[in-house]
Amino acid sequence: MKTIVITNLKGGVGKTTSAVNLGYSMVTLGKRVLLVDADPQSNLTPFFVKSHGYSGRTIQEVFRSPEKIRNIIARTKYENIDIIKGSVKLKEADASDEKALGAALSQVRQEYDICIIDTRPAVEAVTRSALLAGDVFLTPVQLENFCRDNLSLLEDELTGIAYEKDATWRIFANMVINKRSQLAIYTDMVQKHDWSFMENCISRSEVVNNALQRYKPVMKHRRSSRVAKDYLELAKELLEV
Ligand SMILES: Nc1ncnc2c1ncn2[C@@H]1O[C@H](COP(=O)(O)OP(=O)(O)O)[C@@H](O)[C@H]1O
Ligand SMILES: [Mg+2]
Repeated sequence: MKTIVITNLKGGVGKTTSAVNLGYSMVTLGKRVLLVDADPQSNLTPFFVKSHGYSGRTIQEVFRSPEKIRNIIARTKYENIDIIKGSVKLKEADASDEKALGAALSQVRQEYDICIIDTRPAVEAVTRSALLAGDVFLTPVQLENFCRDNLSLLEDELTGIAYEKDATWRIFANMVINKRSQLAIYTDMVQKHDWSFMENCISRSEVVNNALQRYKPVMKHRRSSRVAKDYLELAKELLEV
């Protein structure tokens, strides 16, 4: 099982959207997927399970009783995607044992090919636990004025953990309007810093918001859309990281 942690200090950059769509794309590539909603906002969860199924078995219980992970993992409405549901009650104090999530996930590593963890836009105990369980840290960015500063701050947070874990950090551009004109900023950023960008990026598309309103992956909503293809290509590239 390869564990991908989607992380950025910034909100609204497409972390949850990417967890949904990369998760679904991985299944279409024949992979068995486990999703983990480690954001107390729990925006990932309703894409995959009905909301009345929230109570009880959530990420909070995984932190409390890592040995019970198999009872906590829920089936979703999609074949080959299971989920550890989010909890609005999740507190940083729940993650006082920062190794608990990784220890829990290691029990099911034979049962899944890919695990994708969605996190909140901050690196504190819960997100640190997710990072400590990860093999790849994946950061969506919008190529705009502040993203360089934002990435520098994130780099400070991630470097130590990545080193400790021997994990790989990858960045990809989301909400890309014009690949060619944005490539200038892109090239500049990569040259000045030692940052590794994914080759594939994700177009900005209304299809994403329309799918989101229906709590669906873009592939389920508009299979032939450009953005559905973007996610599939990014998922393929991630399998090689
Ligand atoms: N490629 C995209 N094109 C258009 N809108 C997008 C795209 N990716 C994300 N969005 C929109 O941006 C908003 C924030 O996305 P979200 O995944 O919730 O961000 P985060 O989890 O980082 O806070 C949502 O309304 C989502 O629909
Ligand atoms: Mg989110």
